Amino acid sequence: MPQYGSSPDDIAFAVNVLRSGGLVAFPTETVYGLGADAANERAVMTVFSTKGRPADHPLIVHLATAAEMTRWALDIPDVAWRIAERFWPGPLTLILRRAPGVSDAVTGGQDTIGLRVPAHPVALALLKAFGGGIAAPSANRFGCISPTSAAHVLAEFGHSLPCVIDGGRCEIGLESTILDLSGGSPRVLRPGAITPAALNQILNTELATSTDNVPRVPGSLASHYAPETPLRLLPRAELKAAALALLQRGQTVTVVSSQPAEIHQSACHWLMMPDDAAQYGQSLYALLRDIDKSACDYILIELPPAQMQWEAVSDRLTRAAGKLQRESDSE
Ligand code: TXA
Ligand code: MG
Repeated sequence: MPQYGSSPDDIAFAVNVLRSGGLVAFPTETVYGLGADAANERAVMTVFSTKGRPADHPLIVHLATAAEMTRWALDIPDVAWRIAERFWPGPLTLILRRAPGVSDAVTGGQDTIGLRVPAHPVALALLKAFGGGIAAPSANRFGCISPTSAAHVLAEFGHSLPCVIDGGRCEIGLESTILDLSGGSPRVLRPGAITPAALNQILNTELATSTDNVPRVPGSLASHYAPETPLRLLPRAELKAAALALLQRGQTVTVVSSQPAEIHQSACHWLMMPDDAAQYGQSLYALLRDIDKSACDYILIELPPAQMQWEAVSDRLTRAAGKLQRESDSE
């Protein structure tokens, strides 16, 4: 069983795997990452082949400290240092101009690079012991749901990885906020736990929040976070009628709502989710995985509130529903 904890021996083993060009799945406070030595082009390429990820989709380089940004990025604006000081270690990725010598394999050939200092103590222990940058996407197969536990990583890759570090359940459960500071006005490319309002407290310029037409960010593909089971997002008032219509057609349905069950039939599994955005975000991916494992034909999820603290949850749910939406649009 390629599974390790956070003892010094386990971390030392993981460091050896990274130094020899192998992959290490490790916990962060957002989701589990599939890490490789960011300075080893062949190791980084293994990440792409293992995930089935297209080679032009850039990876985030994880660092132990903000000071290490200078090894990977160029022309780092003052605001990036201030943002890093306020939010790192934490669930925020900064897009900056890449330094010369950084491999095209990491950046997908772009002239920018994504950097993050994660807050999970095991990730930080690994980064400190390794002493370099760890390039890591989420530890899932391309297009699938990000893992928020070591068990999810094993479900994705079986025992084919040389090292999976178990750091428990991810505290945040949704991928980091991505903030582009590579030129022009700052832009959020992917919403996450760090909200535009929090970022605006440090940024002097106005923060563009549009994620329209963002190039080469897999998370911006409509169905990127999709479960296998068809999923539809509906206003609370429409859940019951939609579920009854499916049940009448003989289908089994899981309803995810903020309200107690309105239907009591064995073919309808009605789940109540937390009304707190952070708690909802933490459990969302595990929930979608569980539903995928159950014999359920259809998922109906209540639209979350249209408030800023729900933006990351809404974004992932909209993408999860995106595949089905596009299919029915083209019918
Ligand atoms: O929370 C997270 O960010 C997790 C943990 C493991 O750190 N990582 C993660 O990685 O979500 P991944 O590869 O699944 O998503 C990273 C996103 C992708 O959408 C990628 O395109 C974008 O970051 N990205 C990386 N470098 C970029 C760049 N130079 N320009 C624009 N987007 C970039
Ligand atoms: Mg991912």
